Amino acid sequence: MNRTYLMIKPEAVSGGLQGEIIDLLLKNRFRVARMKQFRFDTARARAFYAVHDGKPFFEALVSYITSGDVVGLELEMEGPAVERLRELVGATDPAEARPGTIRYMYGTDLQRNAVHASDSQPNAEIELAIVFGGP
Ligand code: CMP
Repeated sequence: MNRTYLMIKPEAVSGGLQGEIIDLLLKNRFRVARMKQFRFDTARARAFYAVHDGKPFFEALVSYITSGDVVGLELEMEGPAVERLRELVGATDPAEARPGTIRYMYGTDLQRNAVHASDSQPNAEIELAIVFGGP
């Protein structure tokens, strides 16, 4: 079984889109192993997005992701979970995402792009540890 991490972002949670997004994940053969609604404090948000530290959009990203509750999900599947999830999620910018992808359907702009998905297995493990604290 392979695993990855998906996070439903603040504007999608406050907009009540979490049910539709989770339904789409289940229909695409992901299994929800763990799920948690929580709000990042600044320190944990900076750690979560540490790979983007120093980029021009980093401070705005931290302030946005701490602005409301998020829903974090550990997802499992038999196939290549990281890659399959990234296909289903679509391009970072919803304006460039293909029809049928989560960001095409639920994203608004580059920052409010509905969800975050881990971009590699090592990063999935790091992000799962930050959010769920251990295996
Ligand atoms: P996410 O997959 O959560 O990873 C980092 C986030 O930074 C990304 O989605 C975007 O929502 C956000 N972001 C804001 N500006 C940019 C940018 N110029 N390039 C890439 N990501 C950006």
